Amino acid sequence: MQLRCSKPCSVETSRLREDRVCPECGAPLELVPERPTASAAELRALWSERRSSIEPADRSGVWRFRELLAGLTENVNDIVTLGEGNTPVLRGLATGRFAGVNDLYIKHLGWNPTGSFKDLGMTAAVTRAAVRGAKFVACASTGNTAASMAAYAVRAGLKARVFLPQSVASAKVAQAEAYGAELVRVGGNFDDALAGMLEGADESTYVLNSLNPFRVAGQKTFTVELMEQLGWKAPDVIALPGGNLGNVSAVGVALEDMLALGLIDRVPRVAVIQAEGANPFVRMWQSGASELTPLKDPKTIATAIRIGAPVSWRKAVRALKLTNGTTIDVPDDEIAEARTVIGRDGIGCELGSAAALAGIKRLRASGWIGEQERVICILTGHLLKEPGTTEPKPEPDMVRAKVESGC
Ligand code: F0G
Repeated sequence: MQLRCSKPCSVETSRLREDRVCPECGAPLELVPERPTASAAELRALWSERRSSIEPADRSGVWRFRELLAGLTENVNDIVTLGEGNTPVLRGLATGRFAGVNDLYIKHLGWNPTGSFKDLGMTAAVTRAAVRGAKFVACASTGNTAASMAAYAVRAGLKARVFLPQSVASAKVAQAEAYGAELVRVGGNFDDALAGMLEGADESTYVLNSLNPFRVAGQKTFTVELMEQLGWKAPDVIALPGGNLGNVSAVGVALEDMLALGLIDRVPRVAVIQAEGANPFVRMWQSGASELTPLKDPKTIATAIRIGAPVSWRKAVRALKLTNGTTIDVPDDEIAEARTVIGRDGIGCELGSAAALAGIKRLRASGWIGEQERVICILTGHLLKEPGTTEPKPEPDMVRAKVESGC
């Protein structure tokens, strides 16, 4: 398995460390694709057969597709799994009417073990950390990564430390605590927490933010699962919320893999939706700029995606270019409205997720999505993560001027 800089720059490979950004240019690293030699038909048959297995590695919706996780682990007994993946694709009823899309489906990645899509990447990256002999793992998080990392780390016997910005939904903090992680409270936003964590992370700390390419590798499998659920017929559009842009990057990698392997014959257009007050990627895309300018003070009720300096923007650009995709932003009131409608479908989600549906409605209104097109709305976090629409109150001791301690 080989790493490279995702920019790419001229850094020497020997200087790369898999859980850090490129030491030369600061871009996240990526894995050089290593694809199986089996045919598309053989892969489909193998993945389908594993559904009836009783082995945890076969039942996991991530590791069932392990031919696409080349070299991640040689031994299935090493796998750290909580039975992630296998989330259904559901017809959008009230949501379809709301968005004006007849053929709308929802894939809810919030129905994963810790209630968010993060589990898909975390099972892969924690497995990797454990195989590499790491003892300490760390992440900065708007809450979901923290909860997920804490759960997988504790199962693997790793010590977890999570760096949290000032406003985080209390249910997410409660999860990280319940799974025994050490909480470091950071004054400021996610970007401050990530910068502080990376600065303080010593040699022995294995970083599990989505800059870690094994997170992206595990994360990509949901798009494969989705295509399998759709009979290997690509839909017209996949829409998902964007914050740090790891998830859209993973969708892009999955589509590249599936095209190369002949599992699908065309790619859906991918739409990334940001909140209006936390939209650095949309600004860059719409202005035609070739570099992302971070947003200093991102603001939105959707705290999960309140991010001003998304680390994976380059990979996200690649995903949109590959798919003839787009990115738009939506205001908070539309996010809240969309969340209510998703609840009326008997599904529900946290605010950050609902941005996807609000975006689909706008893209339909603008004509980017056609009335008869098949659209998949990706939801990312469970309703119970954040049941209300009000700003979470910072806990008294969460308001601190700076990172309390390094790693
Ligand atoms: N939806 C939810 C529920 C999230 O928690 C996040 C990110 C996103 C969407 C955006 O995904 O960053 O891959 O573009 N949450 C991170 C966290 C930042 O720390 O939990 P992205």
